[in-house]
Amino acid sequence: MIEPQKIKSLFSIKWTHQLFCTQNAFRSGGEVTQILSELNPPKLMLVVDRGICDANIEYVAKITSWIETSSIECSDILIVQGGEKAKTNDSVVESILNAINELGMCRKSVVLAIGGGAMLDAVGFATSIAHRGIRLIKMPSTSLSACDSGVGVKNGINKYNKKNFIGVFDPPYAVINDYDLLLSLDDRHWFSGMSEVIKVALVKSPELFEQTKTTVSKVQNRDLISMAKLMTASATLHLKHIAEGGDPFERLEARPLDFGHWAAHKLEQMTNHELTHGEAVSIGLAIDLQCSVELGYLDQDVADEVISLLHEFNLPTTHPKMLEPELLDGLEEFREHLGGRLTILLLKDIGQPIDVHDLPESTIKRAIRRLFL
Ligand SMILES: NC(=O)c1ccc[n+]([C@@H]2O[C@H](COP(=O)([O-])OP(=O)(O)OC[C@H]3O[C@@H](n4cnc5c(N)ncnc54)[C@H](O)[C@@H]3O)[C@@H](O)[C@H]2O)c1
Ligand SMILES: [Zn+2]
Repeated sequence: MIEPQKIKSLFSIKWTHQLFCTQNAFRSGGEVTQILSELNPPKLMLVVDRGICDANIEYVAKITSWIETSSIECSDILIVQGGEKAKTNDSVVESILNAINELGMCRKSVVLAIGGGAMLDAVGFATSIAHRGIRLIKMPSTSLSACDSGVGVKNGINKYNKKNFIGVFDPPYAVINDYDLLLSLDDRHWFSGMSEVIKVALVKSPELFEQTKTTVSKVQNRDLISMAKLMTASATLHLKHIAEGGDPFERLEARPLDFGHWAAHKLEQMTNHELTHGEAVSIGLAIDLQCSVELGYLDQDVADEVISLLHEFNLPTTHPKMLEPELLDGLEEFREHLGGRLTILLLKDIGQPIDVHDLPESTIKRAIRRLFL
């Protein structure tokens, strides 16, 4: 007879999560060179979002001339599909894995990925699983990825028509926000990240909310310095939440950074990604703000002020698909993805979130109706 036993052991791992905010990161002695000298990788692979290659030849030329002068063994630039298509199938993941294999890259090697949030999610997934983890440096190239997803520790792709169904938590070695990359964005993607800036301000920082309001015209006029300040403030709040919030790998219930996201993810899927993530988040925020009003937590005036601010950045707060009953499936899909009890963040005031565990369909329907008034 074997005596049942339980052997339990606790261990923890220290991660460093570092964000560099700059311009012209590929300059001689710049952040790219500094970080790579510190790491001294046996091999380096540079992966670039095709959207950058199409819109910003000058930036690609800077990368190429950096490669020519670098002493690190580095492959030619690997150009991959950008946008949500990078996540809707596994072709980007496959091409990164193939390249890592063909180049004989080991775990001490480095992949430096420059691109939008979707491409970084897919590349991050590939580097997390190759040899059980190759070091990744991320350079976010859209407003959304610079202010939010770039410092995120979540990597993955979509599957079964569900966002991020396949993925892992794996912090990058470093994130470099080179704000020169934002210059070639079209207006839509220039503004798209502003919904995530407003989201994190609503949940964590009335000061950032005020700063965002006072910067509207500068951002509308594509002032890079003002935009960079907002991006850095937002990314710092996201990074601090991950590093100091006590739940970097989201094992607990509360998900403050997912404010507005249950509807956002569903709308992205329902519109076949015709809405950008940032636009869908803007609508998701508007719905959850109105739910907060419906449930008596939030003043209508505050909700109206936030909704007007979203509009200032060309962000939508309505879409015909919101009226379809399928949207409500997003609530259960959100719960299933995150696990445990349904936990939705609503707002009592700016900087004063509240978690609720029940969001009745009738409340959501009334909230949506308010947005169409
Ligand atoms: N991992 C996370 O924590 C996290 C957090 C939030 C969002 N996300 C994900 O991020 C994705 C959205 O990312 P996004 O908003 O950055 O958009 P995106 O990655 O879909 O890119 C949008 C478009 O911009 C192009 N592009 C990228 N950089 C450019 C540049 N500098 N100049 C010109 N064009 C450029 C791309 O090729 C693409 O066509 C979604 O899939 C979302 O789920 C992930
Ligand atoms: Zn988001």
